[in-house]
Amino acid sequence: MKSSAIAHSNIALIKYWGRSPQHDPQLNIPLNDTVSMTKHGLTNGIHLQTHTTIEFSSELNRDVVVIEEQEITGRHLERVVRVVDHLRSLAHVNYRFRMESHNDFPTQAGLASSASAFAALALAAASALGLKLNRQQLSTIARLGSGSAARSIHGGFVYCHRGHSHDTAFAEQICTATCFEMNAVIAIVDMGKKTITSDEGHRLASTSPFNDIRIQKSQEQAQQIRKLILENDFNAVGQIAEANCLYMHAVMMTSQPALFYWQPTTLKIIRTIQQLREAGLPCYFTIDAGPNVHCLCQPQHAHELQKILDSIDGVQKTILVEPAEDAFITDQHLF
Ligand code: DP6
Repeated sequence: MKSSAIAHSNIALIKYWGRSPQHDPQLNIPLNDTVSMTKHGLTNGIHLQTHTTIEFSSELNRDVVVIEEQEITGRHLERVVRVVDHLRSLAHVNYRFRMESHNDFPTQAGLASSASAFAALALAAASALGLKLNRQQLSTIARLGSGSAARSIHGGFVYCHRGHSHDTAFAEQICTATCFEMNAVIAIVDMGKKTITSDEGHRLASTSPFNDIRIQKSQEQAQQIRKLILENDFNAVGQIAEANCLYMHAVMMTSQPALFYWQPTTLKIIRTIQQLREAGLPCYFTIDAGPNVHCLCQPQHAHELQKILDSIDGVQKTILVEPAEDAFITDQHLF
């Protein structure tokens, strides 16, 4: 009863910020539909992936979770157990488990480690328990660990429904990694841990006077962007993604207390991207709950953009990413 899986992180083009108040907050049901690109890193061996091994055994007397060779406890352990408990009840077993996990990128640096982590966990644990679940079902289980993880079950471009229950809040693929020509350059401004977790942020979203309008606009934008991805319309996708990012940061900055994730270098990067665009180079920015910037671009401009962003004072590192494959099972076990 041992399985391993690898999943990639994703960048949201239509963001999740705030959970539905009608449901148990532990279900992580988002207020709006979201859209993302699952991403595979191409710089310095950083693929932006999580490799997880899990084993269930009647010989274990407690659940053990080891991340980057360190046993974890508290809130992080609870999130893992929540996902595994759901699967244990589907499989009608109560065996304890040991899980080990390794990221090939720094965790909690705004690079969405929880998305790849919970997607890899859901896939590996379902396989170890012999459960035959489809990707839609796996996405709902990954969501119990982290809202954005539902999308990392799939590769390429992904649509996540807010739904109205656990089973209807699932992610599905819009199209595969090769269907829409978009890359991104991640400009890392700060590698440190987030000061305000997304968990706290989701709770504060409803205190912003702009929350309702963001939800309404995001629903429209999610539909539009899905169609534009299928039409391979890079500029229109970029424009909507950038607008949606600003709506989310407007909600963050106007919640009580106000959340500011940007740093001075973040604004410098935004300005550079706007100027490059004015000069005729198609590129757009999107930013999650942190100071790092994803610059969306077409593959033929990726290296040129990476060089430009690398040269900005305050940018610590850049990572070029392309659309990734689906999360997958591997026979390489970590223990
Ligand atoms: C801003 O609840 O998925 O990245 O704290 O990493 O579990 P974790 O985050 P999560 O919220 C993600 C928020 C976001 C936007 C998005 O990915 O949709």
